[in-house]
Amino acid sequence: MNEEKPSLRHRLFYGSLALHQLLAKRFKGSVRFIPDGYLGDHKVVTQRMAYDTADAHNLSAAYDNQADYVRYRTFELVAQEIAAHGVAGDIAEAGVDYGDCTWILNELFPDRTLYLYDTFRGFDARDVAYESEHEYTSEHFYESANYFLRESFQTAEDQMAYVRGRLKYPEKAVFRQGYFPETAVGEEGNTFAFASLDMDLYQPILNGILFFYPRLAPGGYIMIHDYNHREFKGIKDAVKEAEKTLGPLAKLPLPDQGGSLVIHKAGT
Ligand SMILES: C[S@@+](CC[C@H](N)C(=O)[O-])C[C@H]1O[C@@H](n2cnc3c(N)ncnc32)[C@H](O)[C@@H]1O
Repeated sequence: MNEEKPSLRHRLFYGSLALHQLLAKRFKGSVRFIPDGYLGDHKVVTQRMAYDTADAHNLSAAYDNQADYVRYRTFELVAQEIAAHGVAGDIAEAGVDYGDCTWILNELFPDRTLYLYDTFRGFDARDVAYESEHEYTSEHFYESANYFLRESFQTAEDQMAYVRGRLKYPEKAVFRQGYFPETAVGEEGNTFAFASLDMDLYQPILNGILFFYPRLAPGGYIMIHDYNHREFKGIKDAVKEAEKTLGPLAKLPLPDQGGSLVIHKAGT
């Protein structure tokens, strides 16, 4: 996939993604548009879980507007398990972007510190070069993403202020701006109950699993986005590579729009 120029497919992909992001920014998260091809062929979910606790967490709007019912509902159910079993630890999100998941995690875990790892400047050249070398996804793919992000926000501070403005409990958020895993240095002693890894690329996802899994409390969960996504080919290899170090992981793939993977550490 080492094209000289962005393919028409990539240009269409990021053109429609840019529209989505500009609308999201303009309407502060109240409008959602999922472009074709971004998350697969989107179909409205008509069958929902019968037991509806969404209102308790102000999540009805997210379920209605943001379309990825399975992903957000899994966050909610995992949060319930963590509370029910008294699983200790902080919450982490690696790959924040516009904060579409951040505000949900913040509401689901109002009493826990929420660590937010992102460059807030888009993808890093080191990770992107590795993608191309291994033919996971072309550099143009990520150059386009970075271009549109920088069109939306002048600085990392602007982007963080936007995300912070979406949070109900902003005092629980700790922003770790910069290149992950460098931004996790000093946090080796932390324990996590839940980590959402959504950084699209092989290297940060591998580093994310290697960092968070050993620090996951018994009974805790890691959710890895894009495991079964056709555009992000490095994610499965990252999980396989992590298992060489950590041993076999307990894995459950989800049929959400990114094809997420849930990793669970057995409780005591
Ligand atoms: C797909 S977006 C995250 C989307 C977000 N979780 C959501 O659901 O709306 C991927 C993010 O990962 C970040 N990212 C990728 N590699 C990174 C790295 N090595 N260090 C820090 N952030 C990284 C990018 O800056 C980008 O904001």
